[in-house]
Amino acid sequence: MDTGWNTSWMDYVFKMHGVDQMLKKKEIDTMVLTHWHLDHFWGIESTLKHNPNITIYAPNTHYAEDMKLLHGGKFDKAGCSNNTPHKGKLVECDSKNIVKLMPGVAIKNFDVPIILRVRGENVLYFNVKDKGIVTVTGCCHPGILSLYSFARNNFAKGEDVYGSYGGLHITLFETWDPKFDDIIKGLKSFKPEKLGCNHCTGWLFAEKAAAAGLPIVKGTDRFRSYKKVSSVAKNNHVFLTNGDSVVFG
Ligand SMILES: [Fe+2]
Ligand SMILES: [Fe+2]
Repeated sequence: MDTGWNTSWMDYVFKMHGVDQMLKKKEIDTMVLTHWHLDHFWGIESTLKHNPNITIYAPNTHYAEDMKLLHGGKFDKAGCSNNTPHKGKLVECDSKNIVKLMPGVAIKNFDVPIILRVRGENVLYFNVKDKGIVTVTGCCHPGILSLYSFARNNFAKGEDVYGSYGGLHITLFETWDPKFDDIIKGLKSFKPEKLGCNHCTGWLFAEKAAAAGLPIVKGTDRFRSYKKVSSVAKNNHVFLTNGDSVVFG
């Protein structure tokens, strides 16, 4: 899922985690692009340089500039470029159709307006045997409660939400608003069993959610040994970030 913002950083983490080799050997042959935000897409060269034939599922709401970068171009003003044109299949997802990736795995496109003139986000839903539904998100711009409601109304059929992994776009700026208390309350009503948060969730939200009794999966401190560390990172282990993993099952 997704390919980061900055090519040199993505090259660094892909190498560190062996993703470069997995792409080369086609062990990774598919990428789901959640949305066309810069921090999820502009590092596309790091993926394509190892496997230009990769299949990409992406929202159909792209701009000409996005296609230019995908096909080997650059954004001069942003200093962002891709020297390896995409040669594989681009599957464009719309909000009317749910795409089945494989048994138990689906992509649902939510047609929502998002900041920086981006529109629409692809969400991955996994039906984990004997456990329930797990959402995997890039930013979760549609809102995690909307995602859970969608699962309950469309996928669950007797099962329920089991958990989530990814960005939840809540306290992005690390400040608190009373409406975030309502999100905690809402999440509790779905009784998820595992919440693995990172990216734009906000460390503050994850910290408060854990304190309120939500099952936030604890991360290690491995990210601190990386060559760059987020300036908003806290010492409270509430994020799953670089070097961490989570298992749903
Ligand atoms: Fe993001
Ligand atoms: Fe985003």
